[in-house]
Amino acid sequence: MCGIVGYVGSRLAIDVVVDGLARLEYRGYDSAGIALVNGKLSVQKRAGKLANLRAALAESSLVEATVGIGHTRWATHGAPTDQNAHPHTDCPAQVAVIHNGIIENFAALRAGLAEKGHILASDTDTEVVAHLIEDERATGAGLAEAMRRVCRRLEGAFTLLAVDTAEPDLVVGARRNSPLVVGRGVGENFLGSDVSAFIAHTRRAIELGQDQVVELRAHDVTITDFDGIPVSCREFVVDWDATAAEKGGHDHFMLKEIAEQPRAIADTLLGRVDEQGRLRLDEVRLPLGTVDKMIIVACGTSYHAGLIAKHAVERWAGLPCEVELASEFRYRDPILSSGTLIVVISQSGETMDTLMALRHAREQGSAVLAICNVNGSTIPREADAVIYTHAGPEIAVASTKAFLTQLVACYLMALYLAQRRRTLPDEEIAGILARLSKAPADVEAVLTTVEPVRELARTLKNQRCVLFLGRHVGYPVAMEGALKLKELAYMHAEGFAAGELKHGPIALIEEGLPVVVVVPSPKGEPTLHGKIVSNIQEIRARGAMTVVVCEDGDTAVEPYADALIRVPAVPTLLQPLVTTVPLQVFACELASAKGLDVDQPRNLAKSVTVE
Ligand code: F6R
Repeated sequence: MCGIVGYVGSRLAIDVVVDGLARLEYRGYDSAGIALVNGKLSVQKRAGKLANLRAALAESSLVEATVGIGHTRWATHGAPTDQNAHPHTDCPAQVAVIHNGIIENFAALRAGLAEKGHILASDTDTEVVAHLIEDERATGAGLAEAMRRVCRRLEGAFTLLAVDTAEPDLVVGARRNSPLVVGRGVGENFLGSDVSAFIAHTRRAIELGQDQVVELRAHDVTITDFDGIPVSCREFVVDWDATAAEKGGHDHFMLKEIAEQPRAIADTLLGRVDEQGRLRLDEVRLPLGTVDKMIIVACGTSYHAGLIAKHAVERWAGLPCEVELASEFRYRDPILSSGTLIVVISQSGETMDTLMALRHAREQGSAVLAICNVNGSTIPREADAVIYTHAGPEIAVASTKAFLTQLVACYLMALYLAQRRRTLPDEEIAGILARLSKAPADVEAVLTTVEPVRELARTLKNQRCVLFLGRHVGYPVAMEGALKLKELAYMHAEGFAAGELKHGPIALIEEGLPVVVVVPSPKGEPTLHGKIVSNIQEIRARGAMTVVVCEDGDTAVEPYADALIRVPAVPTLLQPLVTTVPLQVFACELASAKGLDVDQPRNLAKSVTVE
């Protein structure tokens, strides 16, 4: 949600910053802009995707600078116009500011500035910061001190970067509740919303903490709190390189990330099972012996992972488990105690709804375990323990490999609880782990057979609606299939519990309506299997076109399937690892067939850092 880049060094800042923006564009693509400092301030910004900014830059004569900042926007305050694009400046332009987040008290601040005679040109909350900094500079403060003073007056979530013609060798950054990472180079330094902004130049990074300000110069990085007191921060080495954040020959990042799933799952499992088949999750240093209830909290696709995890936690660990949307949990009065273990699931580790839920839970004395993909992001920093999924960078806005690796991490968590609580015999845990270790091969097998799914998707591109049905762990898979189709193909799609069909949704069935049905294993869940076969018959009798996702060898569904998608037979609880994959491919191909932007669907952004 908005990508931010800063650079100070000896190269042409325009090249480094625009390259960084290209790598961060997945965070928002409503508009993009850049500010360079060299004697004077040069600003260029355009509504629309980065390509529009690039075209404008090709025709402009910006100063040749080695200091610059850039921004790619997901609009909050103000429509995505040239005017509202970042950077914003004071007047006359000496300071340029870019921002990710929402400044909640901006209306009051703006009114105060207007009273003092400031003229603001845009509708954004960001522009007030440029003018507030201008006022502080007028009192003699340097840019960093001005930024600190302004931050103390701001409410809400923000990452801010600023440059100033009066201090042409400096970029100042500030952070509260929104991400900002420093990249350390030799004779050059970088800032980015995440490490992909500078991974082509350096893998050495520093996490900025909450309420901190960084002064970035070519040979120096200084970090203080908002009162100017120096703080020390954790430096880390990013364990993937620039190629991991490139398309690698695929048409879309999403296709690449779908194809990476076998390796991603293997990486999630790596080093977590010892030679005796025992689970090693040393990172979960929590008093699990006293836990009497689990609440899983997450958003979107991560929430679907939580719904599947519930089945594993209840069955294997015998622990009551609830699953909540973070945006709802935060504003209820959930009954929590020190025996309640909160598990937050987030790919980005920055989702504001989930972060707020985490804080809400911790304030009430519950321990929080995070399942997260992005190392050093805010959610794992604030949680009591974290299981990293190690999926590698996920660039496509629609989550794929993050979801499957979240599932694997959830299975490990549930088995670890079973091991610690002694709710399953060791041999049974070892057996499930052995089966889980085959999941990369199972997913690989699905990937080799998805061509007919692609063909099917192309034939359905003119449909207006697709329904998805599932039962048990297949129900969240149906919800996930529907979510993918909504976000990528802009089609009406709903995932229903198949058993609920007769309580209302069956009224939606009409001639030719495609209905995707995720069928449980006939061996693993014979009763449920029988029931869903009846459901398929019921909808087909009413004219639906049935697309049936079932395991290899399931012949009972064949007579009622207009299209069959086969997946390898795996134990019921693990089935989402294989049934989700064709649905990802289906949505991706259908969106492509409609000529839509698969990696950057409209109105969306990766990493939703506003509530
Ligand atoms: C959908 C998707 C979103 C995210 C949701 C939570 O494909 O990616 O629904 O799952 O915004 O994001 P994280 O997992 O980063 O907290």
